[in-house]
Amino acid sequence: MTLNVDPKALEALNNFKLPEDIGFGRTMVPIMAVCDFENGKWGELQLLPYGPLELDPTAKVLHYGQEIFEGMKAYHYEGHGPYLFRADQNAKRFNESAKRMAMAEVPEEIYLEAVRAIVGYSNDFIPVQSGESLYIRPFMISTEEHLGIKPSEKFKFLVIASPSGAYFSTGFLKVLIEREFIRACPGGMGAAKTGGNYAGSLISAQKAKSLGFQQTLWLDALEKTYIEEMSGMNFFSVINGKLHTPEIQDTILDGITRNSLIQLAKDLGYEVVEEKMNINDLLTAIENGSCSECFACGTAAIITPIGMLGDAGGNEWNIKNPEGPIAKELRETLLSLQEGRIEDIHGWRETVKVICH
Ligand code: COI
Repeated sequence: MTLNVDPKALEALNNFKLPEDIGFGRTMVPIMAVCDFENGKWGELQLLPYGPLELDPTAKVLHYGQEIFEGMKAYHYEGHGPYLFRADQNAKRFNESAKRMAMAEVPEEIYLEAVRAIVGYSNDFIPVQSGESLYIRPFMISTEEHLGIKPSEKFKFLVIASPSGAYFSTGFLKVLIEREFIRACPGGMGAAKTGGNYAGSLISAQKAKSLGFQQTLWLDALEKTYIEEMSGMNFFSVINGKLHTPEIQDTILDGITRNSLIQLAKDLGYEVVEEKMNINDLLTAIENGSCSECFACGTAAIITPIGMLGDAGGNEWNIKNPEGPIAKELRETLLSLQEGRIEDIHGWRETVKVICH
């Protein structure tokens, strides 16, 4: 796969300065990788300066939300890297989302080449503190000009990236158990990483904020009893020393951080239970102290401990050990692996070739 580099992209890189306070997802590297699908095939992969997109106002993405995305990170630590972590898994999940949303699949070599180019050219802008990274956002939109509701036959695939610090500024999350709205139902698109799932979650985010919470915990659509996920994150708890997480089904995003943690926890000797999790059983376990920790995990969030679960009725369940020694151990193990500080026994880490500009 050849990459066509616009000289203006190199100029933009040479003029770019990383601000001191980077936050999360606010500062973008000054380049983007772009590839268009038309007439049944993918065109040339291009590296362009970062900038606005020109879209016909009837482009289907603007009306019918035919859109998918991924979240990935590249890591730098004490002169090592840049590393990608399980990038092939993101490429595969991207195409699972594409299938569900009736979009063209992006060949894995185009997806990975685009991600590697962004990382390779952005090497100087990857923050170096542990827990910081280059957050990478591959995404695809439907660009066909037509107001009819039918699958688009034209798509634009892009990769942009943002040098980023922590996703959450708070130590422990206060999480709202959402008993009114639902995120996904069986047969729906809950497992796809598509904008509509996130747009539909925002009303609960507003409600959570107004009640003093930072996140929503979604329950299943049919019985409003079983824990599903947390919009941008998967959910874990520690009960009697075992890790529990809801089993994957088509209403839950199959998190790559989630899967990695399950394997790493087993490597560390923990038992991991993946099954349906009744919210009432969890609340009882928090009340009687057998549930000692709860945490959220995801690419952006890494592992973020939960200090309290509550509901809109003012009930609160405080987690016994919000400092979470097991969550801490898992976070440290995951980050050490991603940042190249421990041996990669599963072959999950890839060193990306740095490209000089
Ligand atoms: C990620 O963790 O990469 C996500 O996609 C969550 C996000 C919506 C910030």
